[in-house]
Amino acid sequence: MCGIIGIVLSSSKALSKNLGRVIRECLKNLEYRGYDSVGFAIVSSEGLIIRKSKGKIDEVVSKLSFDEFDGIYGVGHTRWATHGRPSDVNAHPQTDCSGKVAVVHNGIIENYMELRDALISRGHEFRSETDTEVIAHLIEEYKRLGMSSYDAFKKAVTHLRGSYAVAVIDVDDPGKIFFARNTSPLVIGISREAKFLSSDIPAFLDYSRDVIVLNDDELGYISKDAIVIEKLVDKDLRLEFDRVPPKTEFIDYRLRVRHIDWTPEMAKKGGYPHFMLKEIHEQPRAVADTLISISKELDNIVKLLSKADRVLLIGSGTSYHAALVGSLLLNELAYVKSHALISSEVRWFINSIDDDDVVIAISQSGETIDTLLAVRDVRGKGALTIALTNVIDSTLARESHLSIYTRAGPEIGVAATKTYVAQVATLSYLAISLGGYMGTLDSNKASELKSELSLIPEVMSTTISTCEPRARVISGVIGTKHSMYYLGRGLGLPTSMEGALKLKEIAYIHAEAYPAGESKHGPIALVDEGFPVAFTVLGDEAELIVSNVEEMKARGAWTLAVVPKGFEKSVKLFDYIFELRRISYELAPIVYIIPYQLLAYYTAVTLGYDPDKPRNLAKTVTVV
Ligand code: AGP
Repeated sequence: MCGIIGIVLSSSKALSKNLGRVIRECLKNLEYRGYDSVGFAIVSSEGLIIRKSKGKIDEVVSKLSFDEFDGIYGVGHTRWATHGRPSDVNAHPQTDCSGKVAVVHNGIIENYMELRDALISRGHEFRSETDTEVIAHLIEEYKRLGMSSYDAFKKAVTHLRGSYAVAVIDVDDPGKIFFARNTSPLVIGISREAKFLSSDIPAFLDYSRDVIVLNDDELGYISKDAIVIEKLVDKDLRLEFDRVPPKTEFIDYRLRVRHIDWTPEMAKKGGYPHFMLKEIHEQPRAVADTLISISKELDNIVKLLSKADRVLLIGSGTSYHAALVGSLLLNELAYVKSHALISSEVRWFINSIDDDDVVIAISQSGETIDTLLAVRDVRGKGALTIALTNVIDSTLARESHLSIYTRAGPEIGVAATKTYVAQVATLSYLAISLGGYMGTLDSNKASELKSELSLIPEVMSTTISTCEPRARVISGVIGTKHSMYYLGRGLGLPTSMEGALKLKEIAYIHAEAYPAGESKHGPIALVDEGFPVAFTVLGDEAELIVSNVEEMKARGAWTLAVVPKGFEKSVKLFDYIFELRRISYELAPIVYIIPYQLLAYYTAVTLGYDPDKPRNLAKTVTVV
């Protein structure tokens, strides 16, 4: 995830500030979308000026002298690295060989390798490791073939597969910023003094509240006097380098302008009252982006894991719960000896760890000290270490032999949500691939699971919208309780553990998760009239849970369940249910956690707590 901005002023005096300063202010409002490098391109009377650097905005502003640069139009970018580590050269804007085309981009160009190879064979020289740079060279190539800058831009866009929001300056077509959008968000802001392009409304909210939200496959340009929006009618992914402009339909932008009355604070949260709720809603995209990117990265890791004697998955808090899901799936699908360990407990197992072990260290931040220390310990014993993290170039990534990156984008709420589902989706993909590779999973079954996995983001979207109203209602009941159990079996157990963690973390209600079969060996002693017990039912294990529910009900428990549609005994067994679409048991943890996240969120809000900043907790725990 990155933030992009484009600004065209109506005159050199507009907004009464240097353009560099306005770009800097807008990027600061987009910083939540990425913060590993920053850059801008401004067209001034002296021509195109590009400045960019690795580092957070506040660190690089004076280094790059943002505020001193003036001009009539320009673009800016704050980066969350996906292709190519954070560095000055990988920072955006990316340019073509001639240095006339400057591109800022948010998203992932899936077919960039193919495009890059084709362009290199036509004489283009690439400087960065980014996927973005292909866009600049594609435009240049079509210009070389005789197309106008704008047609060359449109033609370039037809070859892009993946997600993108782009803003492009080409000094050969002065005064315009070209744009295109597919999947990644892009909005236009309009005021008397300027026109804006941005990944998100908050970027320009201080200057404009009249916006046009762009749709997929729309492209066009903004200039001092015009807003042009066209819809691509057909996308031609073939790279034949002909000069036929793509077919488009013009859109009357005036019909799409809407006025918004957000405050800047509301807008940073995209209109959501809290980051946590926004991040819950971002989960389908987090999983989709992660799956797109890991599907190309994991082949090598699958081969390494197939040779391991044992695979240990380690993590803290929510990341440990992802580790539990991963180890269960590796055992079940790939018949691999695999265990999950809490990072801070790894030291007690250290004597049995050796160079036949592979350790997957899971941490959204990549900076949790317990996990870092564990990685150092197991490396010392010769184990191969693989980081699974959401932060490129984090300490964990740097200190591990190999890294796998989730693409959830920055997570601001202290309670992990979208990073968890991205971790679980990654581990599910890994276990399915390993099972297929090792032949423990029938190849048809492996393909079926992978196809189903690719549809999971859609299922997540529906689940969020159907569960949210119910979570609001049930939170009224949970908010009156002081303690709660979450019970499940198999993959339902880590899902229950994560649900319980969310509730205690942000609603401050004591919550414990147990294997459902274990509940009668002690925990049941606490259960009396009205004691809340949540059951996680993912699919195949449903019948095994029935007797555990009956045992609780016989003691007066108030029962809640997350169940797949069609589980006939639901009505009889449970006081409240979240009924979810039935999906394969192996993939259910990615989706079935959603009602618990929403329940914790709404309970916290009902009780008057701020779910984004729970007491006593920090987003990244760097103390032992
Ligand atoms: C999760 O909601 C918590 N904030 C916490 O348990 C967290 O998962 C843990 O501190 C590990 O963080 P990491 O993933 O950044 O390593």
